[in-house]
Amino acid sequence: MCKSLKPVAIILLAAGLCCCGVPVIQAQTKKSAMAAKKISPDLFGLFFEDINYAADGGLYAELVQNRSFEYSPTERKEWHPLSYWEYISPGYSYGKISVETSAPITAGNPHYIVLKAEHIGKEVKYTGESGVGIKNTGFAGMVIRAGEKYNLSFFARQLSETPIGLNVSLQNTKGEILAETSISTASKNWQKYTAVLMPTQSFDTASLVILAKSTGMFALDVVSLFPEKTFKNRPNGLRADLAQMLADMKPKFIRFPGGCLSHGDGLENMYRWKNTIGGIEERVEQRNIWGYHQTTGLGYYEYFQFCEDIGAKPLPVLPAAVSCQNSGGTWRVGGTGQKVLPLNEMQDYIQEVLDLIEWANGPVNSTWGAKRAAAGHAASFNLQYVGIGNEDKITPEFEERFKMIYAAVKAKHPEIIIIGTAGPGPDGDDYEKGWKLANNLAVPVIDEHYYTSPEWFISNQHRYDSYNRNTSAVYLGEYASWGNKLRNAIAEAAYMTALERNGDIVKLSSYAPLFAKNNFTQWKTDMIFFDNTKVCPTPNYYVQKMFAVNAGDIYFSNVVTKDNKDSALAVSSVQDSRTGDIILKLVNYGQATKNVKVNLSRFTKIIPESEQTILTGTPDAENTFEHISNVVPVTTPYRVSKSFDYPVPAMSLTVIRIKTKK
Ligand code: AHR
Repeated sequence: MCKSLKPVAIILLAAGLCCCGVPVIQAQTKKSAMAAKKISPDLFGLFFEDINYAADGGLYAELVQNRSFEYSPTERKEWHPLSYWEYISPGYSYGKISVETSAPITAGNPHYIVLKAEHIGKEVKYTGESGVGIKNTGFAGMVIRAGEKYNLSFFARQLSETPIGLNVSLQNTKGEILAETSISTASKNWQKYTAVLMPTQSFDTASLVILAKSTGMFALDVVSLFPEKTFKNRPNGLRADLAQMLADMKPKFIRFPGGCLSHGDGLENMYRWKNTIGGIEERVEQRNIWGYHQTTGLGYYEYFQFCEDIGAKPLPVLPAAVSCQNSGGTWRVGGTGQKVLPLNEMQDYIQEVLDLIEWANGPVNSTWGAKRAAAGHAASFNLQYVGIGNEDKITPEFEERFKMIYAAVKAKHPEIIIIGTAGPGPDGDDYEKGWKLANNLAVPVIDEHYYTSPEWFISNQHRYDSYNRNTSAVYLGEYASWGNKLRNAIAEAAYMTALERNGDIVKLSSYAPLFAKNNFTQWKTDMIFFDNTKVCPTPNYYVQKMFAVNAGDIYFSNVVTKDNKDSALAVSSVQDSRTGDIILKLVNYGQATKNVKVNLSRFTKIIPESEQTILTGTPDAENTFEHISNVVPVTTPYRVSKSFDYPVPAMSLTVIRIKTKK
């Protein structure tokens, strides 16, 4: 271990010491200045990665699957450009379909289809819509709601002389039409067509059907259907119910786009942010490292916009010019698959990193700031944090490239807080080497990751107490205990009290992974499960939310006392200097109620009528799609006095929020 052990520095804050213009400890008496320290105001945030169909088929509200005909057997052996599409010719019609690449809309999006309607039938005994066309079944069906609007768009190029009439409809599984519109091709060049579909009935597994109603030939690409009601009604936006779950947590930041998705499965698969901006037809789609497909429709603009929409700071993690060490599945042989960008490509790559900062923050008359403005956001996105690398193997090649990127960003943008990386585990070779590199370079923050047992979290609550306060700070960028039962969530809660206690050195933290689509998961333990119509938050979600919405920026070490030998009992107390509220978090991982002592006597302005929120149940309790609300926090009024004993229920997290007089 490369960090020297030093005791936690306790900063004594006097009333009036303040970082944001508000008197910090209004409720503190003059005679008993107490042990308190400033802690990170950004401690609790979110980690978002397109794993488990979190983006395409999940948070990204697109209803059409394989909208650009870019699915390929390199993603899944059985996939091809027509996956999730069906060629149809109802009413005894006939024609042809082919996949072409000779004249695409954009080079990054090479495949499109050509439909030739040779005969539009309408035989007796056929009552449905006839024509030649295609049908898309979405991500296991499209959820549509009666009376709501659905924004359709597609690109078409007329290949025959006369316009071709198209019928576009939403259909149920019997082929009955729930919404329809007519569009006629109007150009021999690629042209975007739009329409609004408003279904007359709700249906959970609808399909989108496009039928040529007259003979002729046309090319078709980027067929898209979005509910108008996305989160904050953003075009190309997010599924409102899932996005709201995140907004409700009031996260201080969102890390994106991964995870391993950032550094990718080989160099060609590295996530390159410039491929993910512009019109959806301009985005470069690619294989998702987790075994499916990324449209990159949820790209950097959408990530930054979402962060702004929910008041979270954006935290993009860019590859350190190396791919995942497990590229090609080499985790089986010890992760030897790290690929590195050739040194003669590094200047371009470094420029790409610098360009991101200009794109996010630069003035509208800068090259990249102008692109942000053209996309609809003239104001800066206020990017503060940039991660370089994701739990990479710390090889000499990695170090060389990391140093080059780090030096360039530091020189041009000293205002940016760079986050380095310390491997995939709580200790070991990459952890040691990552920290050593960080210390040598004075990297401001280092990203640690660990997934382990609940017992590990209980036993390691003192991990950060001994971290050196004079070297890099910590971003606990990915962590979770193995499981989504209440016992897992409560072990994490105990650990989170330790993150608050060490919030002077642990600046940021995020549970991972965030989302998992039921039956489409690659990673078992996740924070929020969902399907096309429902959301199933885990007990872990509620723990994260209870901490995040009750975060503070001042930590008090002696407001709550407990038996210090009992590691199953964990406590923390913070104050939010913006509101003046004092917040107590009490965690009991044990099997029986245990008492803690609360002493508020040093606060003079407390309002006794407060609230307690308790998450508790049996250790194995969990939420399922059948019983979504099996484990939920319950809030009730609670009257506090200057000093009181509090019985913390077995297997529970309790948050007591105490208001103070202004
Ligand atoms: O969170 C899932 C994965 O775990 C991340 O992609 C990776 O960084 C870690 O190994």
